[in-house]
Order: sequence, then C-alpha cells, then structure tokens
Amino acid sequence: MRSLVAFICLAQLLSWAAARSPGVPVAPVRDPDCDDLDVEQAALAAVQYVNNNHKHGYKYTLNQVDKARVYQRRPTGEVYVLEIDLVETCCHVLDPTPLENCTVRQLTEHAVEGDCDVSVLKVDNQFMVLNAKCESSPDSAEDVRKICPNCPLLAPLNDTKVVHAVEAALTAFNAQKHNNYFKLQEISRAQFSPLQSSVYTEFVTVPTDCKPIDVIDPAACNPLPNQHGFCKGTLTEKVGGGEDVVATCTVFVAVPAVPAPQPDGIESSLGPAVPAEPAVPAGPPVAAGPAVALGPLLVDAPAVLPAKPILTHLPHHDLRHSIVGGSSFESASGEYGLNAGPVAPGPGPGPAAPAIPLCPGRIRHFKI
Ligand SMILES: *[C@@H]1O[C@H](CO)[C@@H](O)[C@H](O)[C@H]1NC(C)=O
Ligand SMILES: *[C@@H]1O[C@H](CO)[C@@H](O)[C@H](O)[C@H]1NC(C)=O
Repeated sequence: MRSLVAFICLAQLLSWAAARSPGVPVAPVRDPDCDDLDVEQAALAAVQYVNNNHKHGYKYTLNQVDKARVYQRRPTGEVYVLEIDLVETCCHVLDPTPLENCTVRQLTEHAVEGDCDVSVLKVDNQFMVLNAKCESSPDSAEDVRKICPNCPLLAPLNDTKVVHAVEAALTAFNAQKHNNYFKLQEISRAQFSPLQSSVYTEFVTVPTDCKPIDVIDPAACNPLPNQHGFCKGTLTEKVGGGEDVVATCTVFVAVPAVPAPQPDGIESSLGPAVPAEPAVPAGPPVAAGPAVALGPLLVDAPAVLPAKPILTHLPHHDLRHSIVGGSSFESASGEYGLNAGPVAPGPGPGPAAPAIPLCPGRIRHFKI
C-alpha cells in the first residue's frame, strides 16, 4: 500500500514536471496552409522580431511563407514553426518609420532577400517569438542584369571608392554648417553606376556635441544619444577631372517610446544635379496589427558610437551575423523540425487523411 502511494505520488510529480518543462518534445498537430491567417500573424511577429534584433542595414518585410507546421505546447499554446522569405525595405533598422510605411527595395535597385527559420509561440492570442535563425543575400548579378542591363549593382562596403564617396558626402554635408557636426556610424549600401563613373551610397550618421565650424579633432566630438541621420550620397567623377558630390540626410530624434523627427528635419542637397529629396517625417508609430513580438531583444542598441564606423567587405549587412538565436528557455531547432516528414495520421481516432496544405503561400512583393 505504501509503495502504491509512493508510485502515485511519483506519477503525479512526473506529469507535473512534464507539464511544466517547456522542453518536453511535442507531437506535431497539423500542417496549416501557408496563407492561413494565424500563420501570417506568426510570420509578422517573426519579422518584427528580426527587425528589432538586427542593428545594421535595413528593415525587412514579409514576402512569402514557405513552410508551416503547428505543434501543441504543454500546458497551453501552440508553436508555429515556419520558413519565411523576407525582402529588404528602404528603411534603416534605426529609422523609426513604421514598417508599413517603408517601401520595398525593387529588383532594379538590386534587391536583397532574407530567409528565416522561426518558432513562434501562440498563447492567449498573443504571438511570441521563441527562436529565429536568418540569413540574407542580394539577388544575383545575373538576375539583375536579366531585367535591367544597366542597373547599378551592390558594391562591397569596404571598397576604397565606396569609403571615399561616403567620406566626401559626409564632408559636403558637414560643410553646410548644420547645428551639429555629424560623424559616420555605418555604411549601409553602395552601388557603382556602370554608365557614368559614379558611386551611390547610403550611410548612417550621428550628430555630435560639436558645432560644425570648430571641429579640429573629430574624435573629441561625442555622439548625441538616440539621434541618427540617414544619408544618401552620390559622387560623380567629372570628365575634365574633379568630383561632384551630392548629399542628403534625414535626421530623426528618437524621443523615448514615441519617435519623432527633429522639428526642422535637416535635409539638404549640394550641387544642382540632384534635387533635394523631401524629408520623411516620422509621425506617431502606427499600430503594428495584432501580431506582437514579445521575444527577448538579443542585442541592446549601442548607447555610444562604435570606435570605428561599421564596415564590412560584403555588399550588405547579412542577417546571419545579427540574428543568432532566440529565447533560451525553449530550443526550437531540434524539437520542432520542419523536416520530420508529413504528419502521419495516427492509428487511433485521429483526423482522417489530412488535406494537403497549400504551401508555399502567396508572394507579397516579387519573386526573387
Ligand atoms: C504611414 O502611412 C499612413 C498611411 O499611408 C500615413 O497616414 C502615416 O502618416 C504614415 N506615417 C509615417 C510615419 O510616414
Ligand atoms: C575588405 O575586407 C576584406 C575582408 O575583410 C579584405 O580582404 C579586403 O582587403 C578589404 N578591402 C579593402 C579595400 O579594404
């Protein structure tokens, strides 16, 4: 009798532990359509998580859900394991413009694609990202050439011509004597134009506590917190020698919680060739819909400027280097594989032959 009581206690303890332990392997329950509404919500939560966690380069937006599988999670909830395709937008990750307002980088601008394997927990109608593993790559040069033989291709970000073009653009911008002296934080994108000998660049700057007129030693200028300038520069070599430099920057001041632009959004253009672009002010953030990414932030925003501007020899900032994992309490990679084969109908009173899921889902922007 005593041993029976002990056994019952042990069994209760085990079932309690199983219910509590989030790492207990779970059986797949269904393969939903890739365009299922909940799948889309989970995918959007994952995109938000990716954008919150990578600190270089641009925001991505959802292009297509490739695969989807749902697992039951004990004690409650479901885990959505997805393969999703993203495309790069024109908004830098530090730019407070809501994703909905960011335009997608077109194929003719040399588009960049992101691929992610994600696990998203749905519980109480909330989506929480457990794990995300991503990489990204630019469209191939051959594919760009196919649709557009003269389109400028992405260039390595540490190329001497690129670095020179960015420095020249920043010097030109600082020469316009704005309130502050701006320093370079990151070179984000560069393209060589094959027709004219020109270099187009996009880069991130930070205003400092120095006035532009009295900068003797830029190293002594301290970056102002939570402010960034998103700049575009074009350097063109003139036929008779010399260079034309055009630079425009849109400066955002991130007020805690509610990003807003500096009242007189600094924005300017040098040289007659390129008209000034209108500043894009950031209004109050637009609600991101019901999908809420509650996953932990992997990296905190750097409070100070890195000692050196971010350079990479790649033509873009690969998501592989900035999205490296997720929540540690539940490793999704092993337990919720997408490669475990189709969900076999169980021998018991399981669902009758499951419908074949409609995957991959629709393409939102373009095939890349
Ligand atoms: C985003 O777009 C919406 C709708 O087009 C517009 O009302 C809103 O002002 C835009 N917000 C920003 C920050 O551009
Ligand atoms: C760019 O970076 C790569 C790899 O770090 C390096 O091999 C190459 O020499 C660099 N190029 C320039 C121009 O600095």
